[in-house]
Parts: sequence; C-alpha cells; structure tokens
Amino acid sequence: MLLGLGTGSTAAHLVRALGQSVRNGLSVQAIPTSEETRALATAEGIELVAPAETTRIDLVIDGADEVDARKDLMKGGGGALLREKIIASSGTRMIVIADSTKKVSQLGKFPLPVEIDRFSWPLTIQKIRKVLEENDLGGVNLSLRPGPREAGGGVFRSDGGNYIVDISCGRIPDARQLDTALQGVPGVIETGLFIDMADIVIFGTDDSVEIID
Ligand code: A5P
Repeated sequence: MLLGLGTGSTAAHLVRALGQSVRNGLSVQAIPTSEETRALATAEGIELVAPAETTRIDLVIDGADEVDARKDLMKGGGGALLREKIIASSGTRMIVIADSTKKVSQLGKFPLPVEIDRFSWPLTIQKIRKVLEENDLGGVNLSLRPGPREAGGGVFRSDGGNYIVDISCGRIPDARQLDTALQGVPGVIETGLFIDMADIVIFGTDDSVEIID
C-alpha cells in the first residue's frame, strides 16, 4: 500500500505510530506532504517514494484546522496546503484525523490560507480582495504570513517557495464557491479549502473516538 502522509502535530502522531508498525514488520511505502513530514518519516524508518515516481496513492491520512458537517476542511495552518491538496486529491481514500476542537458548524473562523506566487504579489492580493468582496466577505483582514522568528522573520515561504496569505473570514458563506473564485485569480496557486476530499473523519476527544464515515 502507498500512503500519503499529512503534515502537522496530529499527522506527526500518525507518522510515529506508523514507524512503530514498520519496525514491527508492516510493509508500506509513503509519500510525505512536506519536508517536515519527510524528515520525521525518514527518522522513523518508513520507506518513502519519490513524488516524481508516484502515479497512484491508496490512502491519504492528514490533519485539519477545521472540519464541517459535510466533511469539508480548512487546512494549511502549517503552510503545507499545496502539497497536501495534491496528495489529498490523488488518494483513492482520505482519512482526516483531528481532535474534536476542529469540528465546526461553518468553516472560516480559522484564517483561510491561500498560497500565492511571489511575483507581483500585491497585484494578486488586490484581486483576492475583489473576490472576497464579491463573496460577501468585503473588508475582512488579510495578511502575508510572517516567517518564523527563529529563521529571521521576514515573509513565510512554503516548501515550494511561495507566499501564503491568511484571510480572517470569520465565516465562509459558501466554501465551494469561494474556493472556485479564488482559484480563478492569476497568481493564486492553491487555497486551504478542501472540498469533497475527506471520506472518513476521526475525531479524538479526551476519552473517546468519533468516526464520521
Ligand atoms: C498543515 O499545513 C495543515 O494543513 C495541518 O494539517 C493542519 O494545520 C492541522 O495541524 P495540527 O494537526 O497541527 O493541528
């Protein structure tokens, strides 16, 4: 089986558990969604497949920043949304693992990450603002994600070298429509809205597990 391995603190638990299973004899190959996950999976002794040599993925397991009742997701808090979406949209099945605080009635409280090309980024941001106005989100706050202080600050760069704009929507009236509209902006590479991608969501609470299939 070829597994797509997500990114973030929840996905890291999966990678460590998978590493334990591999050491116990499980035979599996994986493709990571970020350099961070690549490093952890390598340290765990999980066999990785080069992205350029991958044409099928059986199962993707990843975390999320928000999950609504339709199993639509907000992702990208860790800045890995582009690679995560390439992998999530390629898996035969996708399982989302999250703690129950990620469950929401409407997406949008968590700032929506949008990955953009660095070339003329202010022009792209202007067009994003226009799309937001057309989608009942005029006037919301929008900012370029800052780089980590320990890496000298500046502007955050994704594994692919792109900028990320975080949009404080508050609520997103129609996530599918907003996703489509944002993807129509030249310069926008990907959004953190993952629509119709999750097959199963597993929420963990302090003392139980809720599975939405
Ligand atoms: C990474 O870019 C994100 O999409 C993560 O999957 C998401 O932010 C969940 O991360 P945590 O498991 O750390 O909350």
